[in-house]
Amino acid sequence: MPVTILLGALSHGSTEIQAKMAPRTPPDEMRTEVVHVNPEQLQADAIGRAAQVLRRGGLVAFPTETVYGLGANALAPEAVARIFAAKGRPANNPLIVHVTTVAQAKQLVAAWPEGAERLARAFWPGPLTLVLLKGSIVPDIVTAGGPTVAIRLPAHAIAHALLEAAQVPVAAPSANRSTCLSPTRAEHVLRSLDGRIDMLLDGGPTAGGLESTVLDLTTTPARLLRPGLIPVASLEAVIGKLIVFGSAGVDESMPLPSPGMMARHYAPRASLECSLDDGWTRVEPLCRAGHRVGWLRLTRAKHESIRGLDVVTMPARVEEYSQFLYEVLHELDDVGVDRIVVEMPPDEPAWLAVRDRLQRAARHG
Ligand code: TXA
Ligand code: MG
Repeated sequence: MPVTILLGALSHGSTEIQAKMAPRTPPDEMRTEVVHVNPEQLQADAIGRAAQVLRRGGLVAFPTETVYGLGANALAPEAVARIFAAKGRPANNPLIVHVTTVAQAKQLVAAWPEGAERLARAFWPGPLTLVLLKGSIVPDIVTAGGPTVAIRLPAHAIAHALLEAAQVPVAAPSANRSTCLSPTRAEHVLRSLDGRIDMLLDGGPTAGGLESTVLDLTTTPARLLRPGLIPVASLEAVIGKLIVFGSAGVDESMPLPSPGMMARHYAPRASLECSLDDGWTRVEPLCRAGHRVGWLRLTRAKHESIRGLDVVTMPARVEEYSQFLYEVLHELDDVGVDRIVVEMPPDEPAWLAVRDRLQRAARHG
Protein backbone atom coordinates (compact mmCIF):
# COMPACT_ATOMS: atom_id res chain seq x y z
CA MET A 1 0.00 0.00 0.00
CA PRO A 2 1.31 3.48 -0.77
CA VAL A 3 1.95 5.65 2.24
CA THR A 4 0.69 9.19 1.98
CA ILE A 5 2.62 11.65 4.11
CA LEU A 6 0.13 14.27 5.18
CA LEU A 7 1.46 17.77 5.53
CA GLY A 8 -0.74 18.06 8.61
CA ALA A 9 1.50 15.53 10.30
CA LEU A 10 4.50 17.69 9.45
CA SER A 11 2.90 20.89 10.62
CA HIS A 12 4.26 23.12 13.34
CA GLY A 13 4.19 21.76 16.85
CA SER A 14 3.74 23.99 19.86
CA THR A 15 6.85 25.38 21.47
CA GLU A 16 7.56 24.88 25.13
CA ILE A 17 7.88 27.73 27.55
CA GLN A 18 10.15 26.14 30.15
CA ALA A 19 13.86 26.00 29.51
CA LYS A 20 15.10 22.51 30.12
CA MET A 21 18.02 20.18 29.47
CA ALA A 22 17.27 17.51 26.96
CA PRO A 23 17.70 14.04 28.48
CA ARG A 24 20.34 12.89 26.02
CA THR A 25 23.96 12.00 26.58
CA PRO A 26 25.82 11.69 23.30
CA PRO A 27 28.96 9.59 23.39
CA ASP A 28 31.27 12.37 22.14
CA GLU A 29 33.23 14.35 24.66
CA MET A 30 31.09 17.45 23.98
CA ARG A 31 27.50 17.50 25.12
CA THR A 32 24.97 19.51 23.17
CA GLU A 33 22.63 21.26 25.55
CA VAL A 34 19.15 21.68 24.06
CA VAL A 35 17.15 24.61 25.39
CA HIS A 36 13.55 25.12 24.32
CA VAL A 37 12.69 28.76 23.77
CA ASN A 38 9.29 30.20 22.95
CA PRO A 39 9.87 32.90 20.30
CA GLU A 40 6.81 34.75 21.57
CA GLN A 41 7.91 34.70 25.19
CA LEU A 42 11.68 34.82 25.29
CA GLN A 43 13.35 33.64 28.48
CA ALA A 44 16.16 36.04 29.24
CA ASP A 45 18.10 33.41 31.22
CA ALA A 46 18.19 30.93 28.32
CA ILE A 47 19.17 33.60 25.82
CA GLY A 48 21.75 35.00 28.26
CA ARG A 49 23.40 31.62 28.72
CA ALA A 50 23.55 31.02 24.97
CA ALA A 51 25.09 34.48 24.50
CA GLN A 52 27.69 33.62 27.10
CA VAL A 53 28.57 30.41 25.24
CA LEU A 54 29.12 32.52 22.11
CA ARG A 55 31.23 35.09 23.95
CA ARG A 56 33.40 32.29 25.37
CA GLY A 57 34.11 30.94 21.88
CA GLY A 58 31.46 28.19 21.80
CA LEU A 59 29.00 27.11 19.11
CA VAL A 60 25.25 27.77 19.42
CA ALA A 61 22.64 26.67 16.88
CA PHE A 62 19.59 28.94 16.74
CA PRO A 63 16.50 29.47 14.59
CA THR A 64 16.27 32.28 12.05
CA GLU A 65 13.33 33.15 9.81
CA THR A 66 14.91 31.07 7.01
CA VAL A 67 16.64 27.97 8.46
CA TYR A 68 18.58 27.15 11.67
CA GLY A 69 22.05 28.69 11.82
CA LEU A 70 25.20 27.47 13.59
CA GLY A 71 26.67 30.52 15.28
CA ALA A 72 30.09 31.54 16.60
CA ASN A 73 31.64 34.88 17.52
CA ALA A 74 32.60 36.23 14.09
CA LEU A 75 35.48 38.25 15.53
CA ALA A 76 37.17 35.21 17.16
CA PRO A 77 39.03 33.12 14.54
CA GLU A 78 39.33 30.05 16.84
CA ALA A 79 35.59 30.07 17.46
CA VAL A 80 34.87 30.35 13.71
CA ALA A 81 37.30 27.49 13.05
CA ARG A 82 35.08 25.30 15.23
CA ILE A 83 32.14 25.94 12.85
CA PHE A 84 34.17 24.58 9.91
CA ALA A 85 35.23 21.56 12.00
CA ALA A 86 31.70 20.78 13.26
CA LYS A 87 30.17 21.01 9.77
CA GLY A 88 33.04 19.45 7.85
CA ARG A 89 32.87 22.58 5.70
CA PRO A 90 35.68 23.29 3.23
CA ALA A 91 37.74 26.30 4.33
CA ASN A 92 37.17 28.00 0.95
CA ASN A 93 33.45 28.48 1.61
CA PRO A 94 32.90 31.80 3.43
CA LEU A 95 30.31 32.42 6.17
CA ILE A 96 27.49 34.91 6.57
CA VAL A 97 27.92 37.32 9.49
CA HIS A 98 24.71 38.11 11.38
CA VAL A 99 24.14 41.50 13.01
CA THR A 100 21.38 43.29 14.93
CA THR A 101 21.76 46.84 13.64
CA VAL A 102 22.80 48.60 10.45
CA ALA A 103 25.46 50.40 12.50
CA GLN A 104 26.98 47.01 13.42
CA ALA A 105 26.93 45.98 9.75
CA LYS A 106 28.80 49.15 8.80
CA GLN A 107 31.57 48.29 11.28
CA LEU A 108 32.28 45.11 9.31
CA VAL A 109 32.75 46.66 5.87
CA ALA A 110 35.28 48.83 4.08
CA ALA A 111 32.50 50.67 2.23
CA TRP A 112 28.76 50.97 2.70
CA PRO A 113 27.36 51.87 -0.72
CA GLU A 114 24.11 53.67 -1.34
CA GLY A 115 22.59 50.42 -2.65
CA ALA A 116 23.30 48.69 0.67
CA GLU A 117 21.61 51.52 2.55
CA ARG A 118 18.51 51.29 0.37
CA LEU A 119 18.31 47.50 0.49
CA ALA A 120 18.84 47.44 4.27
CA ARG A 121 16.03 49.96 4.69
CA ALA A 122 13.73 47.93 2.47
CA PHE A 123 14.48 44.36 3.58
CA TRP A 124 16.22 44.28 6.98
CA PRO A 125 15.50 42.72 9.32
CA GLY A 126 14.83 39.87 6.92
CA PRO A 127 16.10 37.09 4.65
CA LEU A 128 18.53 39.16 2.57
CA THR A 129 22.33 38.73 2.71
CA LEU A 130 24.52 41.49 1.27
CA VAL A 131 28.05 40.80 0.02
CA LEU A 132 30.27 43.87 0.52
CA LEU A 133 33.97 44.75 0.69
CA LYS A 134 35.20 43.51 4.04
CA GLY A 135 36.57 45.71 6.78
CA SER A 136 39.87 44.84 8.49
CA ILE A 137 38.04 43.86 11.69
CA VAL A 138 36.64 40.72 9.99
CA PRO A 139 38.99 37.72 10.37
CA ASP A 140 40.09 36.05 7.13
CA ILE A 141 38.68 32.69 8.19
CA VAL A 142 35.14 34.15 8.01
CA THR A 143 35.54 35.27 4.41
CA ALA A 144 37.65 32.28 3.33
CA GLY A 145 40.50 34.70 2.75
CA GLY A 146 38.49 36.70 0.24
CA PRO A 147 38.07 40.48 0.04
CA THR A 148 34.29 40.45 0.64
CA VAL A 149 32.04 39.70 3.59
CA ALA A 150 28.41 38.52 3.54
CA ILE A 151 26.16 40.21 6.11
CA ARG A 152 22.59 39.70 7.17
CA LEU A 153 20.28 41.16 9.82
CA PRO A 154 17.82 38.37 10.66
CA ALA A 155 14.18 38.97 11.64
CA HIS A 156 13.60 35.99 13.96
CA ALA A 157 12.94 37.03 17.58
CA ILE A 158 15.31 34.41 19.04
CA ALA A 159 18.12 35.21 16.59
CA HIS A 160 17.70 38.90 17.29
CA ALA A 161 17.69 38.47 21.09
CA LEU A 162 20.72 36.18 20.98
CA LEU A 163 22.74 38.58 18.82
CA GLU A 164 21.80 41.50 21.01
CA ALA A 165 22.77 39.66 24.19
CA ALA A 166 26.03 38.37 22.71
CA GLN A 167 27.04 41.91 21.68
CA VAL A 168 29.26 40.51 18.95
CA PRO A 169 28.56 39.83 15.27
CA VAL A 170 27.83 36.13 14.79
CA ALA A 171 29.10 34.06 11.87
CA ALA A 172 26.46 31.44 11.08
CA PRO A 173 26.10 29.03 8.20
CA SER A 174 23.10 26.71 8.09
CA ALA A 175 23.31 24.24 10.99
CA ASN A 176 23.90 21.05 9.00
CA ARG A 177 26.87 18.94 7.90
CA SER A 178 28.43 20.34 4.74
CA THR A 179 26.50 19.64 1.46
CA CYS A 180 23.49 18.20 3.32
CA LEU A 181 19.99 19.62 3.63
CA SER A 182 19.55 22.76 5.69
CA PRO A 183 17.63 22.28 8.97
CA THR A 184 14.20 23.81 9.44
CA ARG A 185 13.63 22.15 12.83
CA ALA A 186 15.77 21.63 15.92
CA GLU A 187 15.49 17.85 15.38
CA HIS A 188 17.24 18.23 12.01
CA VAL A 189 20.11 20.10 13.69
CA LEU A 190 20.52 17.44 16.36
CA ARG A 191 20.49 14.65 13.85
CA SER A 192 23.62 15.95 12.15
CA LEU A 193 25.40 17.97 14.84
CA ASP A 194 24.54 16.41 18.22
CA GLY A 195 27.70 16.22 20.31
CA ARG A 196 29.56 18.51 17.90
CA ILE A 197 28.16 21.84 19.15
CA ASP A 198 27.71 23.32 22.62
CA MET A 199 24.11 24.44 22.58
CA LEU A 200 20.93 24.37 20.51
CA LEU A 201 18.12 26.84 21.00
CA ASP A 202 14.97 24.99 19.92
CA GLY A 203 12.49 27.63 18.83
CA GLY A 204 10.27 25.31 16.78
CA PRO A 205 10.08 25.07 12.99
CA THR A 206 11.33 27.98 10.91
CA ALA A 207 8.79 29.98 8.91
CA GLY A 208 10.68 30.64 5.66
CA GLY A 209 12.15 27.20 5.06
CA LEU A 210 14.73 28.22 2.41
CA GLU A 211 18.05 30.03 2.92
CA SER A 212 18.36 33.80 2.48
CA THR A 213 18.79 35.62 -0.81
CA VAL A 214 22.53 36.37 -1.34
CA LEU A 215 23.22 39.52 -3.30
CA ASP A 216 26.71 40.70 -4.30
CA LEU A 217 26.93 44.49 -4.19
CA THR A 218 30.63 44.64 -5.08
CA THR A 219 29.87 44.51 -8.80
CA THR A 220 27.84 46.79 -11.04
CA PRO A 221 25.18 45.72 -11.68
CA ALA A 222 24.74 43.77 -8.46
CA ARG A 223 24.69 39.98 -8.83
CA LEU A 224 22.17 37.59 -7.34
CA LEU A 225 24.36 34.77 -6.02
CA ARG A 226 21.59 32.74 -4.39
CA PRO A 227 17.87 33.30 -4.98
CA GLY A 228 15.66 33.34 -1.89
CA LEU A 229 12.13 34.24 -1.00
CA ILE A 230 12.43 37.92 -1.89
CA PRO A 231 11.27 38.26 -5.51
CA VAL A 232 13.97 39.51 -7.91
CA ALA A 233 11.53 42.20 -9.08
CA SER A 234 11.29 43.57 -5.51
CA LEU A 235 15.10 43.80 -5.27
CA GLU A 236 15.30 45.44 -8.69
CA ALA A 237 12.65 47.96 -7.67
CA VAL A 238 15.11 49.16 -5.00
CA ILE A 239 18.52 49.02 -6.76
CA GLY A 240 17.83 48.50 -10.46
CA LYS A 241 18.63 45.64 -12.80
CA LEU A 242 20.50 42.63 -11.36
CA ILE A 243 22.61 39.91 -12.91
CA VAL A 244 20.78 36.68 -12.16
CA PHE A 245 22.62 33.36 -12.47
CA GLY A 246 20.40 30.45 -13.36
CA SER A 247 21.57 27.44 -11.35
CA ALA A 248 21.53 25.44 -14.59
CA GLY A 249 23.86 27.99 -16.17
CA VAL A 250 26.77 27.74 -13.75
CA ASP A 251 29.93 26.37 -15.34
CA GLU A 252 31.76 24.66 -12.49
CA SER A 253 35.08 24.55 -14.29
CA MET A 254 35.19 28.35 -13.97
CA PRO A 255 35.96 30.19 -10.71
CA LEU A 256 32.68 30.44 -8.83
CA PRO A 257 31.41 33.85 -7.76
CA SER A 258 30.07 32.17 -4.61
CA PRO A 259 31.16 28.74 -3.39
CA GLY A 260 27.55 28.08 -2.40
CA MET A 261 26.72 28.04 -6.10
CA MET A 262 28.39 24.68 -6.41
CA ALA A 263 25.72 22.27 -7.55
CA ARG A 264 26.45 19.72 -4.83
CA HIS A 265 24.38 21.44 -2.23
CA TYR A 266 21.09 21.25 -0.46
CA ALA A 267 20.70 17.56 -1.24
CA PRO A 268 18.84 14.77 0.55
CA ARG A 269 20.51 11.35 0.89
CA ALA A 270 18.17 9.79 -1.67
CA SER A 271 18.89 10.65 -5.28
CA LEU A 272 16.38 13.19 -6.54
CA GLU A 273 15.12 13.87 -10.05
CA CYS A 274 13.01 16.73 -11.35
CA SER A 275 10.15 15.89 -13.67
CA LEU A 276 8.58 18.24 -16.17
CA ASP A 277 5.24 16.42 -15.97
CA ASP A 278 3.61 15.11 -12.80
CA GLY A 279 6.34 12.46 -12.50
CA TRP A 280 4.20 9.32 -12.53
CA THR A 281 5.89 7.96 -15.65
CA ARG A 282 9.19 7.90 -13.67
CA VAL A 283 7.68 6.88 -10.33
CA GLU A 284 5.97 3.77 -11.65
CA PRO A 285 9.00 2.05 -13.28
CA LEU A 286 11.22 2.94 -10.30
CA CYS A 287 8.79 1.29 -7.90
CA ARG A 288 8.42 -1.72 -10.18
CA ALA A 289 12.22 -2.04 -10.23
CA GLY A 290 12.15 -2.38 -6.43
CA HIS A 291 13.05 1.16 -5.37
CA ARG A 292 11.48 2.87 -2.40
CA VAL A 293 10.32 6.12 -3.99
CA GLY A 294 9.22 9.46 -2.57
CA TRP A 295 7.02 11.42 -4.97
CA LEU A 296 6.50 15.16 -4.49
CA ARG A 297 3.60 16.16 -6.66
CA LEU A 298 1.59 19.33 -7.01
CA THR A 299 -1.70 17.87 -8.11
CA ARG A 300 -3.88 15.31 -6.44
CA ALA A 301 -4.24 13.31 -9.66
CA LYS A 302 -5.37 9.73 -9.18
CA HIS A 303 -2.69 7.12 -9.58
CA GLU A 304 -2.44 3.42 -9.24
CA SER A 305 -1.55 1.92 -5.84
CA ILE A 306 1.96 0.59 -5.98
CA ARG A 307 4.41 -0.95 -3.52
CA GLY A 308 7.25 1.14 -2.17
CA LEU A 309 5.76 4.55 -2.83
CA ASP A 310 5.47 7.52 -0.46
CA VAL A 311 3.38 10.32 -1.93
CA VAL A 312 3.53 13.92 -0.76
CA THR A 313 1.10 16.39 -2.26
CA MET A 314 2.96 19.68 -1.94
CA PRO A 315 1.23 23.01 -1.27
CA ALA A 316 0.32 25.00 -4.38
CA ARG A 317 1.37 28.30 -2.80
CA VAL A 318 5.06 29.11 -3.02
CA GLU A 319 5.36 30.35 0.59
CA GLU A 320 4.06 27.07 1.97
CA TYR A 321 5.95 24.96 -0.54
CA SER A 322 9.18 26.67 0.52
CA GLN A 323 8.37 26.32 4.19
CA PHE A 324 7.82 22.57 3.91
CA LEU A 325 10.26 21.50 1.18
CA TYR A 326 13.29 20.67 3.36
CA GLU A 327 11.06 19.22 6.04
CA VAL A 328 9.52 16.82 3.53
CA LEU A 329 12.95 15.87 2.15
CA HIS A 330 14.28 15.24 5.68
CA GLU A 331 11.19 13.12 6.34
CA LEU A 332 11.65 11.08 3.17
CA ASP A 333 15.31 10.47 4.11
CA ASP A 334 14.10 9.29 7.52
CA VAL A 335 11.58 6.81 6.16
CA GLY A 336 14.37 5.43 3.98
CA VAL A 337 13.37 6.22 0.38
CA ASP A 338 16.27 5.82 -2.06
CA ARG A 339 14.75 7.80 -4.94
CA ILE A 340 12.76 11.03 -4.99
CA VAL A 341 10.79 12.23 -8.01
CA VAL A 342 9.60 15.83 -7.98
CA GLU A 343 6.90 17.36 -10.16
CA MET A 344 8.63 20.68 -10.87
CA PRO A 345 6.78 23.86 -9.94
CA PRO A 346 6.22 26.26 -12.85
CA ASP A 347 9.16 28.14 -14.40
CA GLU A 348 7.93 31.49 -13.06
CA PRO A 349 9.76 34.22 -11.11
CA ALA A 350 7.96 33.43 -7.84
CA TRP A 351 9.32 29.86 -7.90
CA LEU A 352 12.96 30.80 -8.68
CA ALA A 353 14.39 29.82 -5.26
CA VAL A 354 12.41 26.59 -4.95
CA ARG A 355 13.41 25.50 -8.46
CA ASP A 356 17.04 26.47 -7.76
CA ARG A 357 17.20 24.25 -4.64
CA LEU A 358 15.44 21.36 -6.41
CA GLN A 359 17.80 21.57 -9.40
CA ARG A 360 20.84 21.57 -7.09
CA ALA A 361 19.44 18.63 -5.10
CA ALA A 362 18.93 16.77 -8.38
CA ARG A 363 22.60 17.16 -9.28
CA HIS A 364 23.75 15.47 -6.10
CA GLY A 365 25.95 12.40 -6.46
O1 TXA B 1 19.36 31.95 5.48
C1 TXA B 1 20.58 31.89 5.56
O2 TXA B 1 21.34 32.55 4.84
C2 TXA B 1 21.18 30.92 6.61
C3 TXA B 1 20.85 31.50 8.00
C4 TXA B 1 21.48 30.69 9.10
O3 TXA B 1 21.26 32.84 8.05
N1 TXA B 1 22.60 30.81 6.42
C5 TXA B 1 23.12 30.12 5.39
O4 TXA B 1 24.51 30.07 5.41
O5 TXA B 1 22.45 29.60 4.51
P1 TXA B 1 25.35 29.08 4.48
O6 TXA B 1 26.74 29.19 4.94
O7 TXA B 1 24.73 27.74 4.53
O8 TXA B 1 25.21 29.70 3.06
C6 TXA B 1 25.85 30.95 2.81
C7 TXA B 1 26.06 31.13 1.36
C8 TXA B 1 27.04 30.13 0.81
O9 TXA B 1 26.58 29.80 -0.49
C9 TXA B 1 28.35 30.93 0.75
O10 TXA B 1 29.22 30.45 -0.24
C10 TXA B 1 27.83 32.31 0.42
O11 TXA B 1 26.61 32.44 1.14
N2 TXA B 1 28.75 33.36 0.87
C11 TXA B 1 29.15 33.64 2.13
N3 TXA B 1 30.03 34.65 2.15
C12 TXA B 1 30.22 35.03 0.87
C13 TXA B 1 31.02 36.00 0.22
N4 TXA B 1 31.82 36.82 0.91
N5 TXA B 1 30.95 36.10 -1.13
C14 TXA B 1 30.13 35.30 -1.83
N6 TXA B 1 29.35 34.34 -1.30
C15 TXA B 1 29.39 34.20 0.04
MG1 MG C 1 24.33 25.87 4.07
